[in-house]
Amino acid sequence: MSQSKKFITFKSEFNKFLSLQIPNSNDINHKAIKYAISNGGKRIRAYLLFTLGKHFGISKNVLNILGASIEMIHAYSLVHDDLPCMDDDDLRRGKLTCHKKFDEAQALLVGDALQSLAFELLSSNKLKIDPELKLECINLLASSIGSKGMVLGQSLDMIYEKKKPTKKIIEKIHRNKTGMLISTCILIPSIISRQRNSTHKNLKILSENLGLLYQMVDDYLDATSDVEKLGKNPGKDHQREKVTYFSLYGKEKLLGVINTTKEEIDKISFKLELPDEFNFLINNIYDRIK
Ligand code: IPE
Ligand code: IPE
Ligand code: MG
Ligand code: MG
Ligand code: MG
Repeated sequence: MSQSKKFITFKSEFNKFLSLQIPNSNDINHKAIKYAISNGGKRIRAYLLFTLGKHFGISKNVLNILGASIEMIHAYSLVHDDLPCMDDDDLRRGKLTCHKKFDEAQALLVGDALQSLAFELLSSNKLKIDPELKLECINLLASSIGSKGMVLGQSLDMIYEKKKPTKKIIEKIHRNKTGMLISTCILIPSIISRQRNSTHKNLKILSENLGLLYQMVDDYLDATSDVEKLGKNPGKDHQREKVTYFSLYGKEKLLGVINTTKEEIDKISFKLELPDEFNFLINNIYDRIK
C-alpha cells in the first residue's frame, strides 16, 4: 500500500473511532461537539502519534485513544481560537466556524467540553497501559496545553497583535501555542514504550523543530495560499496584524528557515531510523508550502 493510501486509511478508521467517543444525543451541546470534531481536520497530530507508536510496538487501541484525546484538545483550541474575542474567524475546515454555526456561548462550551472529554477518555479504563505511564502521559499533556504551554502561547499571540515583538518573543509564542501539543504527540509514544534516555532526548529536539516547522508553514500559507486549499480564510494574520514568521522574515527568508528546520528533523529521523510512515508525514507537512 502506498504511503498516502495508508494515511487515508488511517484517517477514515480513526475518524470512525473518534466520533464514537462523543455521546450520541440530541442535546445542542453534543451536536455542536460533533460538528467541531468531525469536520475534516488533517489529523496530523493523531497520525504522528500513530506512526511513532506503531513503530515502538504500542497497540492500535491504545494509540486510537491517545490520538482521539489529542485531536479533541486540538479541536477545542481551534473552536476557541476562532471566537470573535480571539481571531474572529468565520471559516474552519471548509465550513462555518462553530460559533457561526451555533453561537458564541455554545462554542465556548464546546471547547470546555472537548477538553474535559479528552481527559475523561485518557483517565478511563479504556486506556489499558501501566498506570504510572498513564499518569505521566496525562501530566505531560495537561502541562503542555495549559498556562505553561498552549494557553500561554495563545495569550501572548493576542497580546502582541499590532505590536512589534522581538524574534525571541515570536519564537516563544509559536513554540507554545502550536509546538507544545505537537511535541506531546511525539513524546507520549516515547514515554509509553520506555525509550532510552538518548532516544527520548533526540525525539524531544525533533518534536520541537517540528512544532516550529508546523507553525511556520501555517503562517506561510496564511500569507500565500487560498481558501480552497486551506479551508479557512487566508490573509487573516496580516489583517489582524499578528506577529508571525512571515511578518518576521518575509517570504524568501522564511522559506530558507523552513528548509533548514526540515533538514534538522530529517537528520534526527535518519539517526533514529524512524519509519517511512513517519517520514512521509513530515514530508506531507513540509510539502504544503509547494
Ligand atoms: C491549525 O492546525 C492551527 C495550528 C496550530 C497551525 P491544523 O492545520 O493542524 O488544523 P486541522 O486540524 O488540520 O484543521
Ligand atoms: C492557532 O494558531 C493555534 C491554536 C489554536 C492553539 P492560528 O491562529 O495561527 O491557527 P489558524 O491559522 O487560525 O488555524
Ligand atoms: Mg490564533
Ligand atoms: Mg486563528
Ligand atoms: Mg494561522
